[in-house]
Amino acid sequence: MRDLRGRTALVTGGDSGIGLGIAHAVCDAGMSVVISGIVEETLEKAGSELAAVGTAHAVRLDVRDRAGFAALADRMDREFGGVDVLVNNAGVGFLAPTTEATFEQWDWVLDINLTGVFNGIRTFLPRMLAAGRPGHIVSTASIGGLLGAPGSTYAAAKAGVVGLMEALAAELVDTPVGVSILTPGIVRTNIHNGPPPPGSVVVHTPGDAAETDLHAAAMPPREVGDRVVRAILDEQLYVITHAEHRELLERRFDAILRCVPDEQPDPRRAGVERLILHNPVYDRALGRTAR
Ligand SMILES: NC(=O)c1ccc[n+]([C@@H]2O[C@H](COP(=O)([O-])OP(=O)(O)OC[C@H]3O[C@@H](n4cnc5c(N)ncnc54)[C@H](O)[C@@H]3O)[C@@H](O)[C@H]2O)c1
Repeated sequence: MRDLRGRTALVTGGDSGIGLGIAHAVCDAGMSVVISGIVEETLEKAGSELAAVGTAHAVRLDVRDRAGFAALADRMDREFGGVDVLVNNAGVGFLAPTTEATFEQWDWVLDINLTGVFNGIRTFLPRMLAAGRPGHIVSTASIGGLLGAPGSTYAAAKAGVVGLMEALAAELVDTPVGVSILTPGIVRTNIHNGPPPPGSVVVHTPGDAAETDLHAAAMPPREVGDRVVRAILDEQLYVITHAEHRELLERRFDAILRCVPDEQPDPRRAGVERLILHNPVYDRALGRTAR
């Protein structure tokens, strides 16, 4: 999208943390913003905070509620002429190791962090395509979805968001709807005070770092919001928030490439594999094809 002024964004989980940072940034870019969340009090507070700087509305929506998504989409069609930028950001933190996570906790994390993203896309994308205007979908994964950081349940959900969005980008390559995958590192938010998972949990801090260090080094949410707006305007597939992730990502991708069999590829098999697996969005992200 080249110009966001006068257009409408929906940000799920937009009443707190990264979502609120994105809501502020899109508001400053001249968009009307609708934020959704599940806590009346924070929705009201964030709604008035945003209304003081732009056009903002706050609505209650649990991202697991598909009927609620459909009702919100109808309302946004009526009141705003649809959604131009959809930000699937709502999520919960859950860092318990595999042997401590219960089946109920797995379902809870996956339902909110992965299925909630699909619910948003499945509800709004057909309407965005039917509108035929330039649009954009951003989904918040995590750098843990690219690096497999400890906390397998959370990592699985976030890797799922990355896979979903990369495949979606390929499906939408010839449409006016762009796609970005936000993979934040540690950001100063309320994620540690989010809704509690079912059952009991032992609290785990990432990497066993001291809480004070985590807080001091964490990125402010507004910085993430500004990076998201730039990515929408530049049609950038990945929103990597931290320059500090370069080395970690290189090690991961090098580790994968190290395991590719060191053999002469069979040309026929290569052709078939390429036919099925080639995703033009990687070429585009590498600047090999102009959009
Ligand atoms: N904070 C970080 O360091 C960090 C890092 C990587 C990724 N993330 C991701 O960023 C996103 C935003 O988290 P945050 O850190 O800003 O935390 P936050 O707790 O400040 O905000 C999360 C928002 O999601 C909402 N939410 C939770 N469950 C919901 C549900 N079932 N339906 C609708 N809304 C729901 C919360 O009410 C809140 O508004 C999440 O997807 C999270 O996984 C955060």
